[in-house]
Amino acid sequence: MSEHTEQDAQTTRIYFTGDCDGFADLRDALANHPELEVVGWSDHVAQAAGVLAGGHLNCVLHGTRAEKFPGGEVAAIREQTRSPIIIVASSTATELLEEALEAEVADVLVLPQLIENVVFAIRKAAHAKRRVSTVARSQQGRVVTVFSPKGGTGKTVTATNLAAAFAKYEQKRTLLLDLDLQFGDAAIVMGIEPEKTIYDLVVAPGELDIEKLAGYTTKHPCGLDILPAPLRPEDAELVTESKITRLLEVARECYDVIVVDTSPFFHGPMLATLDRTDELLVLCGLDVPTLKNVRLALQTLELLSFPSSRIRYVLNRANTKVGLSKREVEGALKVAVHIEVPSDRIVPVSVNRGAPAVLSEPGSDFAKAMMALAKTVMTTEPETKRSKKRISLARS
Ligand SMILES: Nc1ncnc2c1ncn2[C@@H]1O[C@H](COP(=O)(O)OP(=O)(O)OP(=O)(O)O)[C@@H](O)[C@H]1O
Ligand SMILES: [Mg+2]
Repeated sequence: MSEHTEQDAQTTRIYFTGDCDGFADLRDALANHPELEVVGWSDHVAQAAGVLAGGHLNCVLHGTRAEKFPGGEVAAIREQTRSPIIIVASSTATELLEEALEAEVADVLVLPQLIENVVFAIRKAAHAKRRVSTVARSQQGRVVTVFSPKGGTGKTVTATNLAAAFAKYEQKRTLLLDLDLQFGDAAIVMGIEPEKTIYDLVVAPGELDIEKLAGYTTKHPCGLDILPAPLRPEDAELVTESKITRLLEVARECYDVIVVDTSPFFHGPMLATLDRTDELLVLCGLDVPTLKNVRLALQTLELLSFPSSRIRYVLNRANTKVGLSKREVEGALKVAVHIEVPSDRIVPVSVNRGAPAVLSEPGSDFAKAMMALAKTVMTTEPETKRSKKRISLARS
């Protein structure tokens, strides 16, 4: 899981899975604790997959009645999140404790316990994780995910131009990752005919590491690397959540920024991506159906407990006169638009040429908006941005 912003760091977000004697009472007691935020609970790990993956949790407490270590359930939690796990048990079986020593869990608490002891264990586990994340963060890349719940809103155009701007004008080691797994077209928009795609990477034998990743990306002349979507839609299903989780972990070690293009759905791979997303660019347009879908998507993001402080709102084709204004969009969504991107005929022209506008037409209003977006994403947090000055590059 990614490290948290200062704002998030004030409360410790916890989630409960499993069950044991006294677990429900513990949950009730912790729900009232001022330093904790209980994001939710589920007896079965499988039912909690969405929140575990997208919830930016600081700690997962897993209850078990078993005398043995619940290895299968811990592995299932690990599939979804890197948050610290505390095992809460109702028996002191030595077998459980012995196996826990070897396992990747932060602590084992045998009930009953004083609530303050449990809170201390949770905070300690979360704090240790944050410290590791912060140290790692200084060398790790930033995951910027471009999303919109409606097709054709400009996700691919934004992701490709943003990635090209990072590589060419910000001198960042950039990976463009196409996670529109069925119909991704980022490579075509970049004018690249790749030999290998993410499909080839995930079906190749052996553990993924930096060297292996480098063998499957294609370099674009502007400097960025691209990992394209599978060539055939039916190959998408082999690109699973766990493969994406590992891919993003490895990519963060060798790139400054990873720009993720997406499809308009909250499927498993998208949830795994959200869990590692430092910044979510939500694209909106000046049309009622898109607005309706964005509003629904924001509700889903809230249900998934995705921190709103990581979302930046981009209004595409902001200058088109279609009877809907930016202010009305902001009012309907109850959010502030951070960045306005103008409609520009150079965009479809550059898409058809396979040459992103930031590279082929750097003087255009659209390209300038994309370059400004790249700079802002690299230098500010979305929340800070919202309260301060906003940029507007749309022609009025
Ligand atoms: N600011 C803009 N000005 C002019 N045309 C634009 C702009 N943004 C996007 N377009 C055009 O809209 C079309 C759709 O854009 P794009 O493919 O980026 O959308 P998408 O959200 O990725 O769609 P999908 O969900 O199908 O993947 C493209 O042909 C592109 O040229
Ligand atoms: Mg697209």
